[in-house]
Amino acid sequence: MKYLRAAIIAALLIPIASGADLTGRWVAATRTPDGQTRETVFALKADGDRLSGYMSSPQGDTAISEGRVNGDDISFVIVREMGGEERKIQYTAKITADGLLVKMPGFGDRPGRDLFAKRVSTDPPKPLPPPVPKIALPPMQDVKSNGLAKTPPMGWNSWNKFRNKVSDQVVREIADAMVKNGMKAAGYIYVNIDDTWEGSRDPQGAIRSNEKFPNMKALADYVHGKGLKLGIYSSPGPKTCAQFEGSFQHEEQDAKTFAAWGIDYLKYDWCSAGRVYQSSSMPAAYAKMGQALLAAGRPIVYSLCQYGAQNVGEWGARSGGNLWRTTGDIRDTWASMSDLGFEKQIGREKYAGPGHWNDPDMLEIGNGGMSEIEYRTHMSLWSVLAAPLLAGNDLRDVPPGILEILIDKEVIAVDQDKLGKQGVRVSKNGDLEVWARPLADGGHAVCMFNRGGASAKVTARWSDIGLTGSHKVRDLWAHADRGKFSDEYAAEVPSHGVVMVRVH
Ligand code: GLA
Repeated sequence: MKYLRAAIIAALLIPIASGADLTGRWVAATRTPDGQTRETVFALKADGDRLSGYMSSPQGDTAISEGRVNGDDISFVIVREMGGEERKIQYTAKITADGLLVKMPGFGDRPGRDLFAKRVSTDPPKPLPPPVPKIALPPMQDVKSNGLAKTPPMGWNSWNKFRNKVSDQVVREIADAMVKNGMKAAGYIYVNIDDTWEGSRDPQGAIRSNEKFPNMKALADYVHGKGLKLGIYSSPGPKTCAQFEGSFQHEEQDAKTFAAWGIDYLKYDWCSAGRVYQSSSMPAAYAKMGQALLAAGRPIVYSLCQYGAQNVGEWGARSGGNLWRTTGDIRDTWASMSDLGFEKQIGREKYAGPGHWNDPDMLEIGNGGMSEIEYRTHMSLWSVLAAPLLAGNDLRDVPPGILEILIDKEVIAVDQDKLGKQGVRVSKNGDLEVWARPLADGGHAVCMFNRGGASAKVTARWSDIGLTGSHKVRDLWAHADRGKFSDEYAAEVPSHGVVMVRVH
């Protein structure tokens, strides 16, 4: 009996000895934050100290290169198209008693993680089919401006809070809430559905919404009936980032469908497009949809989402874009928000202006990962940057402190200032930074930030913003005039906080 049990266990597990032949199919199952199971497969062939094969994930198969086995340690490289650029990613793994512990590298401020893979067969991997040659589009033709977004777009987007849980009902309830809670009155007009609304195409190739959105046209009518506008999402690639249907080779058809539904805003996310287009074709791929939207005959704000790749500031507006992402995705943390806002926008101010804006990604205000002081910094920074203001929280249930941050009239007036000049960092003293932007009335908006861990006095010097003499100062969050100041204005600023003023 004992022997029988041992024999069964031995037959079930494919044994691994130190320095063993790793050839076979290894599978790691992980759970995504929205509760789905995702499989990563390592199909490996060991040949002495050399390792080849491929890694498969929902994004497709990618060949392993530079694979080496050294005792229990293995290393290999995967070359991946990420956000419009090819990146060489170095992986390491360790053979353990019952599997393969793979170290998945982190990106930006996103930490790496471990994957544990079990061998399910010892068959050598089948050769990968030869890669399909990528499309090189003819150089981009400039698309005429659509005349929209004279100030940075304001509204709401479903992704940060709802991910794949967005539905017709959620969108209607959010629209109702925006009318009731003052968001609409404060200028938040676009109600934008992000990824996961897409269904299959009909026999004529027209895109259909999935069961979460039974009737897009009726939803648009509802949202319009509230005095709001409806936005939608797609990709120039065959699949969206969440693996739904993209607009590849259906650009004009989709633009017409969106217009017929009554869509007012399109976020167009690169995602899988790198699998079909050469990266240098990115501007032309965006211009293709830019042109299709113009031809569809309905005013549709065009939002490019390609994480700042290919120097987008240089061509984003010419592709018909009204705004373009400048970075990877924001997360609801102080580290992520400050990295995107304080560090990654520098030098991009020359590309922003009425009709075409840098987009440091959507707001996380109210999602719970930061304090109210930090969310006020988030709102102030986005406003001094002339960034689009797309709330990303559940607007059906907003604590009063959070709502106050989102709908502050004086801060929004800075974001929406008609001059459309993106602000810049004018001084930095360790963790203390002063940012400023000129305003249409001749005044300046000035943010005094304290990124450090303890309260500190921050000084804004007039000379740093090109002013001399004595100027009136109004504290925007306090809604209070502070008086007239010569040469500079100083204020005590809490840790991770801001004092935002108007100098005039
Ligand atoms: C990308 C975008 C996000 C969101 C998701 C949806 O990650 O950058 O803003 O649209 O795709 O899948």
